[in-house]
Amino acid sequence: MKVLVSGGAGFIGSHVVDLLIQSGHEPIVVDNLRTGNKEFVAQSARFFDVDIASPQIESVFVKEKPEVVIHLAAQVDVAFSIENPVEDANQNILGTIRLLDCSHKYHVKKFIFSSSCAVYGEKDDCNLKETFPLQPRSFYGISKLSSELYIENFSQLFNLPYTILRYSNVYGPRQSSKGEGGVISVFLKKVLNGEAPYIFGDGEQTRDFVFVKDVANANVLSIEKGSNEIFNIGTNSKTSINDLFQNITSLTSSNLTPILMPARKGDIQYSRLDNSKAAKLLGWNPVFDLKTGLNETLNYYRRTINPGH
Ligand SMILES: NC(=O)c1ccc[n+]([C@@H]2O[C@H](COP(=O)([O-])OP(=O)(O)OC[C@H]3O[C@@H](n4cnc5c(N)ncnc54)[C@H](O)[C@@H]3O)[C@@H](O)[C@H]2O)c1
Repeated sequence: MKVLVSGGAGFIGSHVVDLLIQSGHEPIVVDNLRTGNKEFVAQSARFFDVDIASPQIESVFVKEKPEVVIHLAAQVDVAFSIENPVEDANQNILGTIRLLDCSHKYHVKKFIFSSSCAVYGEKDDCNLKETFPLQPRSFYGISKLSSELYIENFSQLFNLPYTILRYSNVYGPRQSSKGEGGVISVFLKKVLNGEAPYIFGDGEQTRDFVFVKDVANANVLSIEKGSNEIFNIGTNSKTSINDLFQNITSLTSSNLTPILMPARKGDIQYSRLDNSKAAKLLGWNPVFDLKTGLNETLNYYRRTINPGH
């Protein structure tokens, strides 16, 4: 199938493109390279350097007539959203509306959206279910929740089928050290360079780390399954930032100690996603455990940061 991938030059998007090609689909990449990297895009994918929030996006739909849209393009930095709420909303909310508008106008059969656990906001230490109350604590989280509401309304008003995927903290090769799930790439890059990383707060905050190839698989499965549903995409398990750091120091045989910094605005204490709905309706289960995923990511950074290591 012809699949338009917005943000396909980014961390997660480029893995989605790779898996689409492996699965026999035809990806069309739209990315303005704000944080993405053209070198991440598979050579066989057609590439358009277009901003999804600009009117030019329509020309891609006219030319390519995609059957499916996988929408990942976004401003992904929570701290940036708090400093720049207008720019965040412009990229994340208006960008999504433009893509929805074109998807409706050009008869797209399925709209798949990358949302985030940031829509839940601060909750007790529990496995979050899709039905839990939504109380985002950052403008980024609000921009994802607003996009979800636009998608649901486009579907009801214009019969545009969708699947919304709410990711926990995604990690893996090609991740930049900025952004929501960047802590693993920040730690790995710092430790490989012999520098002590920062830990914000007491380090006892927990995260649910999901490997990028598992997330790419959830997107590809959503082409055929999970119509008009919202799914958590996480591992159902939690790791504290202190434990993550220990894992990384033992993997890299490093004896660095982290530098403790005050907690950051908008950061939540606990985050763990119940993934049983995705298992049941999408047939999705995470395949990579943290150790395997960290090893694969570490090998990637060793090749790219210290070539020849
Ligand atoms: N990384 C995570 O842990 C995580 C967690 C939850 C949700 N998400 C969501 O997954 C998606 C992908 O995130 P990522 O981590 O790969 O980030 P990323 O920054 O690597 O990828 C985003 C891509 O979108 C492109 N882009 C941004 N604004 C654009 C615009 N206006 N027009 C065209 N292209 C634009 C960027 O250049 C980049 O290539 C995002 O929607 C993000 O909110 C990520």
